[in-house]
Amino acid sequence: MSEILRAPKGLDGVAVADTSIAKSDADGTLIYRGYAIKDLFEHSTFEESTYLILYGKLPTRSELEEFEAKMLRFSMVPHNVYDLVKTIPHEAHQMDVLRTAVSGLGATEGGISSEEQKLSIIAQMPALVANCYRIIKGMDVAEPDPALSLSQNFLYMLRGKKPSDFEAWCFERMLILYLEHDLNASAFTVRVVASTLADIYAACTAGLAALKGPLHGGANEAAMQMLLKIGSADNARSYVQETLAKREKVMGFGHRVYKTVDPRSQLAKKLLRELLEKQGKGLETYKLCEAVESAVWEFKKLPANVDFYAAPIFLNLDIPIETNTPIFASSRIVGWVAHYNEQLVDNRIYRPDATYTGEKGLKYVPIDSR
Ligand code: ACO
Repeated sequence: MSEILRAPKGLDGVAVADTSIAKSDADGTLIYRGYAIKDLFEHSTFEESTYLILYGKLPTRSELEEFEAKMLRFSMVPHNVYDLVKTIPHEAHQMDVLRTAVSGLGATEGGISSEEQKLSIIAQMPALVANCYRIIKGMDVAEPDPALSLSQNFLYMLRGKKPSDFEAWCFERMLILYLEHDLNASAFTVRVVASTLADIYAACTAGLAALKGPLHGGANEAAMQMLLKIGSADNARSYVQETLAKREKVMGFGHRVYKTVDPRSQLAKKLLRELLEKQGKGLETYKLCEAVESAVWEFKKLPANVDFYAAPIFLNLDIPIETNTPIFASSRIVGWVAHYNEQLVDNRIYRPDATYTGEKGLKYVPIDSR
């Protein structure tokens, strides 16, 4: 056996795979398949960026139309999955409900090829996220409207009313920002499961489990709860100071890769301002966020990450807070599928080592003699 290397805590700075899907850098840049996130945020659609991430190139018009039609065809969720969701207690966390639903989808979605499974799991996510919420809240199941785009349908099913073009555009910008982020905790989890040759549903169910945690995708919901607790810009500095003094986390801040700026949070910040201005709501929320951001930078030199500005955008789009992390998942699943595919190109099962620190050579004592 070759010499065992000791990896740093949290695998910080260790490359465990090659990827051509996305790259985030400490200098505050992020690319999907070579394209700057800012360009995709400003000019692309969710469907087009999804195509880019899955197939490695921007589609032609006809390729995109064909892809959109396929996504629409796959967007209906089998009703036995909703029947399963109806058995879940109403106080369950939305990420637990969604994880159960995706796992249920895997147990029922027979008869289609593995390539179709990968597209259908992406296409079904808006209906799944919306209806997991609706069922838990005692509302009727909503079906996608074939005349609407994926992001329009998502808001339509989630809120029960059709969004304005501007609302759908804002929401779609956030979905683009959340699509993919190289080897984060959930993508790594998906690759580990893929490496065992388990199916895409198993891998995505595991990805959802990893994403739920507040240090990862759960941070957007936690950041929104925190912002509501702080209340106004005047309270921001003292809140941050007290939180850091207790050695607690300020949610929506810090990142393993970005040390000065997360490019996604800066795009989302601009979007939040634009949304509030367009809605004529005043800039109180924006000023609160900015005050928290500058206090965290002053005391700890940590940048806001994407989740910090995503949370108030979702709130101002009348999206229920408990669906924030499921919405993140509905977009990130595209990255997970791409990582699943990439892992299988040159696969070897992930099986790291551990340094054993336990005892050895103990003598077994029968239960009655202990
Ligand atoms: N609040 C307070 N202190 C923090 C925070 C924070 N949000 N983030 C990091 N720190 C502290 C660490 O405790 C550490 O302090 P120390 O040097 O005094 O021990 C120092 O800053 C450096 O931390 P890192 O090594 O850079 O953090 P790491 O890479 O291990 O973790 C993580 C990154 C999990 C994102 C962390 O910053 C965090 O917990 N943030 C809050 C949760 C969050 O917003 N997660 C979303 C991440 S982005 C995403 O998933 C989309």
